[in-house]
Amino acid sequence: MNSEASTPVVHTRLDGSVLVVTIDNPPVNALGVAVRSGLLQAVELAHNSPDIQAVLLVGKGKAFIAGADIREFGKPPMPPSLPQVLELMETGSKLVVAAIHGPALGGGLEVALAAHYRLALPAAKLGLPEVNLGLLPGAGGTQRAPRVMGVKAATELMLSGKHISAAEALESGLVDRVAEGSDPEQAGLAYVNELLAAKAPIRRTRDIAIADKAAALAELDALQAATAKKARGLFSPLKIIECVRHAVELPLEEGLPRERAAFLECLESPQRTGLIHAFFAEREVVKIPEAKAAGPRALNTLAVIGGGTMGAGITVAALDAGLPVIMIERDAESIARGRANVEKVYDGLIAKGRLTAEGKAAIMARYTGSTRYDDIAAVDLVIEAVFEDIDVKKAVFKELDRVCKPGAVLATNTSYLDINAIADSISRPQDVIGLHFFSPANIMKLLEIVVPAKVSPDVVATAFDLARKLKKVPVRAGVCDGFIGNRILAVYKQAADYIMEDGASPYEIDEAVRGFGYPMGPFQVTDLAGGDIGWATRKRKAATRDPNARYVEVADRVCERGWFGQKTGRGFYLYPQGARVGQPDPEVLAIVDAERARKGITPRTFTPEEIMRRYMAAMINEGANVLNEGIALRPLDIDVTFLYGYGFPRHRGGPMKYADMVGLETILNDITTFAQEDPLFWKPSPLLVKLVQEGKNFDSLNTLA
Ligand code: 3HC
Ligand code: NAI
Repeated sequence: MNSEASTPVVHTRLDGSVLVVTIDNPPVNALGVAVRSGLLQAVELAHNSPDIQAVLLVGKGKAFIAGADIREFGKPPMPPSLPQVLELMETGSKLVVAAIHGPALGGGLEVALAAHYRLALPAAKLGLPEVNLGLLPGAGGTQRAPRVMGVKAATELMLSGKHISAAEALESGLVDRVAEGSDPEQAGLAYVNELLAAKAPIRRTRDIAIADKAAALAELDALQAATAKKARGLFSPLKIIECVRHAVELPLEEGLPRERAAFLECLESPQRTGLIHAFFAEREVVKIPEAKAAGPRALNTLAVIGGGTMGAGITVAALDAGLPVIMIERDAESIARGRANVEKVYDGLIAKGRLTAEGKAAIMARYTGSTRYDDIAAVDLVIEAVFEDIDVKKAVFKELDRVCKPGAVLATNTSYLDINAIADSISRPQDVIGLHFFSPANIMKLLEIVVPAKVSPDVVATAFDLARKLKKVPVRAGVCDGFIGNRILAVYKQAADYIMEDGASPYEIDEAVRGFGYPMGPFQVTDLAGGDIGWATRKRKAATRDPNARYVEVADRVCERGWFGQKTGRGFYLYPQGARVGQPDPEVLAIVDAERARKGITPRTFTPEEIMRRYMAAMINEGANVLNEGIALRPLDIDVTFLYGYGFPRHRGGPMKYADMVGLETILNDITTFAQEDPLFWKPSPLLVKLVQEGKNFDSLNTLA
């Protein structure tokens, strides 16, 4: 009888009087319909067999259960539902114990919460991260977690989406015991047999009373106020609090259906679509053709050329990943400054109590500063981050070509320069690649991996391996002016300038962009980054600019006054006494007015909706061009670029996903309408036109052939 309830993904075997139920659904034991059916059968078997005294739930492989099968969301639901399975499990007559040795997340933790006892092994990771997907725990998590670990701790766990360790779970009461080892079956059986010997009662979570209800409700009020402030239009966090309120006020039987209804509401929300797209997209970006063709080269040592803003940030990122780094600068004074730039980051952490002096010393032991290129002869990978000047960069690459060992990967962090030209200037173009980090490089997650024409596939694979080691999110990009991100940015920034000159103030534009879900608007970003950087680029490109193209000079007028943003106390905003949040500046508005007058423009009003229609249409149209030219592999690569490098609101999935959700026809219609005013700027991308003609969306291009 021991395999009566076994299915391909849920195995059962009898060990004495204990039914061991193993979930075996690689890679992460997600609770797809087959697992739910298998679990239901196993629970029914235990229920109906007098020989079975207890059930032990374990997961095969690395995970206990990583949650619901995310790929099923948005498709017609298939019975049995998880709440139905858990109802039977919790109310049944046999003792159920969960032994957790890896991720027990979302629905996975909800399974454990419906068990009567919970054991964790040291590698367990527990959490209710549904909020990250625009959802809430929909199989009793909002009702059972507060009963087991207290209202405040449970709500915070759900609102943060954080994973906690076995030790933390024990401390919060989420698990009953932590056992040594890594074999959940062995540790679980020992625990179950101990419980049986002690005649431990069937302890149903639903029967646990929430102690001080008034205090719990007050805690929820406080959490609700804090969440409403920072949720920036997100739907599910407030729903989570509402459900926990029901857990406090109602018996479980009444709380559960309310939770289910709220879960289904979240499931229907476009925020869920956007967030789940982001979840899969950030896992898809590493799937690139070169990784199929070749493995990475050895990568144990690094050199960084230049110790300025980017060189120092990249060095910190590499040191933090445990890699030894040799930094090269021009002279003794510059290398001292480079080292100081690196140390400043760690001193900041020490000041905040997040690092000790010994910790810093241990990290800095991996750092070497030098002014001699010969010192980097043996490194595996070099990242050049010197001035943005093709001749300076070529001179550096000439030195790298001279000293570096054969097979060393030679990377440039250039923002705009032609990497093919850099590669062709040395004897080994196959080893040259772009690694475009974002500032601050030790913090920002995005890494554009720019693939020049002659690079060999194993160099590309090595760059992706570096990203993994540095915990960055890599996106493969082709060579062009600005690659994926900065190229598209230049276009929608231009759209923002046009909107400003036509009538909206920079402050109205920033507000509309924040209202869409960005943390900052484009003019705030300019002030943060320093207006001088864009100004220098505009001057460099002035000679090659199309004389017929519309050019807005407001930013130049602001820069001419030395107003470069936060660092000068003034830019598009005023920053009195070093304030971090700027105030609108009437003098900037006067500059805008003067520019309008000079060009004979009568300002008109823009609603936030119209501002965003134009802003997004410009972004999406250039995104389509970038795709059409093969600069981005898939629409999802553009989405990930903007989610991780440009603050695009995650719940909207990224610009290309957003376009799909709005409908490509609508976007194209907008562009065609705007083109009546300025046909040079608003040229519909041929790819967008083609997709609309064929009735397709961007998502249809997300699967690589
Ligand atoms: N459903 C379907 N597929 C999943 C999945 C899930 N819940 N979780 C992970 N996967 C897939 C990934 O897409 C990836 O697929 P791929 O190899 O084809 O790209 C594969 O499993 C491995 O995932 P990772 O690359 O992320 O592996 P890691 O080892 O780095 O991380 C993990 C493992 C910590 C479990 C991580 O995958 C994770 O956080 N998963 C999501 C957990 C989650 O959000 N659970 C809640 C789901 S919603 C829910 O449960 C609702 C319930 O309340 C009713
Ligand atoms: P920076 O001016 O802060 O630093 C450049 C450093 O390079 C200076 O310390 C300088 O002494 C050093 N240097 C110059 N010539 C050298 C040489 N021949 N050998 C060794 N060192 C030399 O500049 P920043 O901002 O760090 O930019 C560096 C590169 O990174 C540029 O290509 C830039 O376009 C790119 N970049 C900059 C970003 C930013 O936000 N600042 C973002 C992404 C890329």
